[in-house]
Amino acid sequence: MSEIQNQIREKGQAALEQIETAKNLPDLDQIRVSVLGKKGSLSEALKTLGQVPAEERPKLGALANEWKSKIEAALEIKKTALEANQIEADLIKTKIDVTIPSRKVHVGSLHPITTTVRKISETLGRIGFDVTVGPEIETDFLNFEAVNIPKDHPARDMQDTFFVGPGVVLRSQTSPVQMRAMRAEKWPIRILCPGAVYRCDSDATHSPMFHQIEGLWVDKKVSMSDLKGVLGFFAKELFGTDTKIRLRPSYFPFVEPGAEVDVSCMLCAGKNHKCQVCKGTGWLEILGAGMVHPRLFELAGYKSDEVSGFAFGMGIERIAMLLHGIPDLRLMFHGDQRFLKQF
Ligand code: PHE
Repeated sequence: MSEIQNQIREKGQAALEQIETAKNLPDLDQIRVSVLGKKGSLSEALKTLGQVPAEERPKLGALANEWKSKIEAALEIKKTALEANQIEADLIKTKIDVTIPSRKVHVGSLHPITTTVRKISETLGRIGFDVTVGPEIETDFLNFEAVNIPKDHPARDMQDTFFVGPGVVLRSQTSPVQMRAMRAEKWPIRILCPGAVYRCDSDATHSPMFHQIEGLWVDKKVSMSDLKGVLGFFAKELFGTDTKIRLRPSYFPFVEPGAEVDVSCMLCAGKNHKCQVCKGTGWLEILGAGMVHPRLFELAGYKSDEVSGFAFGMGIERIAMLLHGIPDLRLMFHGDQRFLKQF
């Protein structure tokens, strides 16, 4: 056996032993360089190949390649093993205790005004009412004149309405949305218009910003008894099947005849003369309603002898307060977590 053959075997064997005992990845890499690198031991041995007779060179070359492959394979196996060890060690170091309680996630809830609007919309949606909205910044014309409130009406007083520019107001009611809807499409119309409204008013029972929902049904031969039927259904669905309604004659410029609508007290049903909610009367006023004034139809471009309709409007806060037994209107707007968390 030639000197070179021996050298290749010895160096190869030594390399395999070193690889076997390598402790970590940097050490392993150093071994690789010291054996297979340009100046590595195996490479150095091969450099002397030039000195052997030409007919022996192929055999020696093959032997060198064989050892090179052996060493490369050993390096690969060791590398995989060392990497696995490393992962194992990292996992132990960064061990996670999955039994520790997690940080508490605070789940938000819908505001009672939102849930009340949804409840009303869902209830009346079942008998064909679609939800429509209009702008909160409204023209003086649509907020007042187009719903038959004349120029000298006290509601237009600076003390009652926020004027934001010439001929422009923050709407003081959702009734202008009725007119917008009628001008935008032909009858039949069956809509609900919820939204914020504004008035210069602020105390325990009034807020400068509050919410209303308006209903409008326009078609051929819609009558006062339809109005009563719809509102009776609405009251039973919202406050319970025993709830009764009562209509009292009243005046709103955009309806004729007009009525204020009461529901029987859901707390005492009129049986407790000391009831906190109905003050012993047995009735709670919840909304205004009436048959759409013919003048509104004319302004909308309808023929008032062809159609009829009814409208109703109510304060959402009032309904929410009755549904949840909320004692003070201002709680609705303070954003107090202790209050809001209950819903
Ligand atoms: N817009 C009236 C109000 O703000 C409520 C209402 C609406 C009354 C529709 C009758 C018909 O008081």
